[in-house]
Amino acid sequence: MGKFQFPDTGIDKESIFQSLTELKVNDLKWQDGKAFAYIYGTEKETMQFAAGAYQLYLTENGLDPSSFPSLLKLETEVISMLSDLLHGGKDACGNLTGGGTESVMLAVKTARDWARANKPEINRPEMIIPETAHPCFQKAAHYLGVDVKIIPVDKTTFKADSAAMADAISNQTILLVGSAPSYAHGVIDPIEEIAALAKSKALLFHVDCCVGGMYLPFAEMLGYEIPKFDFRVDGVSSISCDLHKFGYVPKGCSSILYKNKELREYQLYSCSNWPGYTIVNPTVSSSKTGGPMAAAWAMFRLWGKEGYKKAVDSCQKATAQFISALKDMPEFELLGNPAMSLLSFKVTDPAISIFQLIDKMSKKGWYLQLQLASNASGEAIHLTITDFNTAHIASLLNELKITLEELKKEQHPSNEMLMGLDASMIQLLMDNFTPDMLDNLEALLGMDISSNSGIPQDMVTVNSLLNSLKPEQRDALLKAFVNRMYL
Ligand SMILES: Cc1ncc(COP(=O)(O)O)c(C=O)c1O
Repeated sequence: MGKFQFPDTGIDKESIFQSLTELKVNDLKWQDGKAFAYIYGTEKETMQFAAGAYQLYLTENGLDPSSFPSLLKLETEVISMLSDLLHGGKDACGNLTGGGTESVMLAVKTARDWARANKPEINRPEMIIPETAHPCFQKAAHYLGVDVKIIPVDKTTFKADSAAMADAISNQTILLVGSAPSYAHGVIDPIEEIAALAKSKALLFHVDCCVGGMYLPFAEMLGYEIPKFDFRVDGVSSISCDLHKFGYVPKGCSSILYKNKELREYQLYSCSNWPGYTIVNPTVSSSKTGGPMAAAWAMFRLWGKEGYKKAVDSCQKATAQFISALKDMPEFELLGNPAMSLLSFKVTDPAISIFQLIDKMSKKGWYLQLQLASNASGEAIHLTITDFNTAHIASLLNELKITLEELKKEQHPSNEMLMGLDASMIQLLMDNFTPDMLDNLEALLGMDISSNSGIPQDMVTVNSLLNSLKPEQRDALLKAFVNRMYL
């Protein structure tokens, strides 16, 4: 039996809302603009405005557009405006989805089903992705029974290596993938090269613009040098673009666009061989709130190109400010050359532990995101700069400098010692790890998970450990931990 029993009677609304508010006490304090990941915010009144539009359509059900023609109109108008932005031309089409992962999942399903119909000789469909592609591609492949070939990126520019992609193509390949830009480094893959390759081999090519689709077009309008990444590039067959990121729409809003309806047809699912209502779905979800559609429509109307250009301009300037200051700090090195306001940097000073730096900054109220070491790049700090935190760049830089000095004065154990014991012992345990060993591992690490959330307050040990493990060991550990964390 769980810790909580279903309540016998109801209680008053005020105390419920009070509890809901109090529950947030340990959450990331994004409201003061010091969170450089997870939150895509703009000024408070605009966020409230979008939430108001969302609320207005909260209860309407996107399951059946014939019952809610308002939702069909909102969705088609938003897709049409997006297609205009991404140069979709007269044949482009698309749908709104619940998030970037769902958009990518649909693009992969479309490719799989397109290949089933058009390349029946393929029996183990595979897609080729750069190692910097968002994990949602691997997740989609895992869910949909598609194989994945992961190809390396250039270790200085972090852009996909299109020659390696060409070498990886086999008679089972159905789809190539590029990012505009990648989340980790903010760099745009060589979209034109990959598109030419896809075209020459009669493959589909998906450009993941989840994070850049509502940003790069405006950056280009402002005169920033942005390589072509959208439907202007011949050979691009689909694009994912999130509105709940730089579209500043509340969460639950992304889009998937195709160059034409012949291709989109493979995305649809219909089922009428049961006694209930007829199902014909463009998305993974069936019942879904109309809130995100209304909020996207409202935001596009409220801001227009001018409003989005203004937000992008302030993010571009804040990013340039941060990068220029970073270049004067010998302890850090920027990774690649970001095209927009997502960036990552590594710590070059061996006396500084990146894990301690992140933890110390977090205790001072700054959320900087850790990127674990991967084949593409070593452990690094990631920042996503949005319209909400541009004003805090100078104080972030100042705090980073202060924290570096503090860390230099402190005694720094090596990463292995940070874990409290010999790395070989951990490795031995992890080599034979099974979920029931989680408690033993925690005891070995001397970890005290005292907070109610089940997440340690001090992440230095956990992050050092994860960073030292092989990806498959990390995944096994993380799944065991999360399986225990949720009821
Ligand atoms: C490039 C890219 N693709 C896909 C995603 C997945 O989006 P979501 O978290 O909305 O599922 C993200 C998220 O940051 C992203 O940056």
